[in-house]
Amino acid sequence: MDDRTERIAKAAEFITGRLAGRSPKVAIILGSGLGNLAEMIEDRITIPYSEIPCFPVSTVIGHKGNFISGLLGGRQVIAMQGRFHYYEGYYDMATLTLPVRVLRKLGVEYLFVSNAAGAANPEYHVGDMVIIKDHINLMPNPLIGPNMEEFGPRFPDMTCAYDLSLQDKALEIAGKLGLKLHRGVYLGSSGPTYETPAEVRMLATLGADAVGMSTVPEVIAAKHAGIEVSGISFISNKAAGLSANPLSHEEVSENAAKAEKLFSAFMKRFISLVLEDK
Ligand code: HPA
Repeated sequence: MDDRTERIAKAAEFITGRLAGRSPKVAIILGSGLGNLAEMIEDRITIPYSEIPCFPVSTVIGHKGNFISGLLGGRQVIAMQGRFHYYEGYYDMATLTLPVRVLRKLGVEYLFVSNAAGAANPEYHVGDMVIIKDHINLMPNPLIGPNMEEFGPRFPDMTCAYDLSLQDKALEIAGKLGLKLHRGVYLGSSGPTYETPAEVRMLATLGADAVGMSTVPEVIAAKHAGIEVSGISFISNKAAGLSANPLSHEEVSENAAKAEKLFSAFMKRFISLVLEDK
């Protein structure tokens, strides 16, 4: 029996109760090592995932598991500090994307998704950021199964999965802040292994600039539900074969932590400016 509707409703009802009348239109999903942007949110209400009925719990080291509501760049936002990955193995795709649908139920209209990613594009360097213009999905599609008509259509269009005007705005802001921001294609694979060098060559040939193990399921669920999406990758390493060293989660997390301040400053500015004319 498909109990998704009930699970989503229960989780959303619980969170609404905790939000004390706030109704954020903007949500942010914080990726590996990038969770500290949440500390910049003012007037915070923290809701641990573990307290939310029917909600999954994050198992990855370095990923906290909280919703944080409050003000960022003068906007009411709700941030997910910690996300769920297919490779964790605990979740089917419906559960993995449940948080996005809960956000929709809460009234969210814009989703900013961040991640740490490996560079498959040899022009990209550690510490660079990428505004995602499109993706390639190498994971199972999260919309497989009975369609949830209350969220969106059976066959959603993905021509503009990542809002074009938000991409342009991000590039403008990065230029003003003197930050290196590429516009590129993100490829989502299941992990948990990093790619082999041969796979990285193949993925680059397919058109991938950055590779990672997250983001795509959430973006698909968000677009399906009519949420506008903007995706940002932080380049934590060169992908296998392009990197001088073997890859490790420690390297990814360390590099992400180093860039965290810059990333957070950018995101704060981005969120406050981007929605000015919306
Ligand atoms: N490959 C896949 N996922 C990643 C990488 C990578 O090189 N870096 C961070 N997440």
